[in-house]
Amino acid sequence: MANVIVVGAQFGDEGKAKVTDLLAKNADVVVRYQGGNNAGHTVVVDGETYKFHLIPSGILYKGTVCILGPGMVIDPKALISELAALKDRGMDTSCLKVSAVAHVTMPYHLALDAAEEDNRGGKKIGTTRRGIGPTYADKCDRIGIRIEDLLDADALRAKLDWLVPKKNIMLERIYNLPPQDADEIFKEYIEIGKKIAGYVCDTSAIIFQAVRDRKNILFEGAQGTLLDLDHGSYPYVTSSSPTAGGACTGAGVGPTIIDRVIGVSKAYQTRVGEGPFPTEQFAEIGEKLRQTGTPWAEVGVTTGRPRRCGWFDAVVGRYAVRINGLDCLAVTKLDVLDEFEEIKICVAYKDLKTGEIYNDLPSMAGVFWRMEPIYETFTGWMKPTSGCRSYSELPERARRYLDFISELLECPVAIVSVGPKRDQTIVIEDPIHGPKRVLSHSSASSAAHLS
Ligand code: IMP
Repeated sequence: MANVIVVGAQFGDEGKAKVTDLLAKNADVVVRYQGGNNAGHTVVVDGETYKFHLIPSGILYKGTVCILGPGMVIDPKALISELAALKDRGMDTSCLKVSAVAHVTMPYHLALDAAEEDNRGGKKIGTTRRGIGPTYADKCDRIGIRIEDLLDADALRAKLDWLVPKKNIMLERIYNLPPQDADEIFKEYIEIGKKIAGYVCDTSAIIFQAVRDRKNILFEGAQGTLLDLDHGSYPYVTSSSPTAGGACTGAGVGPTIIDRVIGVSKAYQTRVGEGPFPTEQFAEIGEKLRQTGTPWAEVGVTTGRPRRCGWFDAVVGRYAVRINGLDCLAVTKLDVLDEFEEIKICVAYKDLKTGEIYNDLPSMAGVFWRMEPIYETFTGWMKPTSGCRSYSELPERARRYLDFISELLECPVAIVSVGPKRDQTIVIEDPIHGPKRVLSHSSASSAAHLS
């Protein structure tokens, strides 16, 4: 029995789906605990490509209970179309459970997300326009519609009659957009409620029972550490808590049941949307990283936007180890670096304004923008790695690259992915039952800039 959290250790899109798919094989329950259909997960099984936005990829394993937890925001139309797509491909979706208290993304959230983005002037966040921020804002404002409301006509009617006129004031007066019709929304969403009613339940109780029964539970984070509302590169973040702590509040479990936290990083780094990205590469190198990501290029699964690409950033990596308490790392897409004669890793930052050296991520957003990467340069291995199935089969220079990442982050690399297929995976040490990471007494990454 082991309860494991998998989180993104960078800016999202780290290849978490590949890792959760691998771990889901032995999981009885897979839980998504935050975010919504802003996420995009791609898994390749037996030559078939599956793209997920809301439903955990664990649904591909028959009998695995898949949970959309209380901390999520759910666009029920997106959920219905994802369910339909899975059913069309003959997949059994009866093991899906949807939290009654998760919040619902409504049509006015979608309109407001787009309107707010379009009117931010030079301060765009680059959201996925899936209504995520406005849905979480209503949740915090305690005026949100929850999944349970879609099953209760009186509750839904009362909420919409009060909410829609309020939202229309914003849509019409601030953004000069057409108003929405509470009646139409009611009719449509009460029908949607009937379609998903069979999946709705108290998911926290299901997880607790699974804990009691000594089942294996996998908590699947979406987005990544630097997109965390509290700990990410605010304001260029999502509106939820993708970090490990978010798994407990978002799923409704206590931290004492968690056995292990696994961080997923690409062997380089990408970001979609706006915000600081010190190791970003703009010219040839950026384009080569973007185009090499096999078999699909570095393009967002949800929005189709090209991802910004750059070198691996160990400062970000160390931060992810700290914020999530990572026990080990899964490094994905190592094969993308196969044809680079020279590979760089950012080991620290230099403040362009003050000349100060930062080994840790600066906590102040304004300062993060000024960071210039300090690189160590590696000679590339220039050999294909996608056929390697063990650490020893990897070219020596690739092994050195991974060892260096592990050293810099003070965190063992347990899994390496060398391609999109399930079997293109190298397990260096058991990610679940491997040794617990022990923090060195005086960390090399101590906050040098504080002195
Ligand atoms: P939102 O989550 O749609 O509000 O977008 C906020 C920021 O998070 C934007 O920069 C998005 O590009 C980014 N983002 C949201 N979801 C993902 C994801 O699954 N992968 C990568 N970036 C994401």
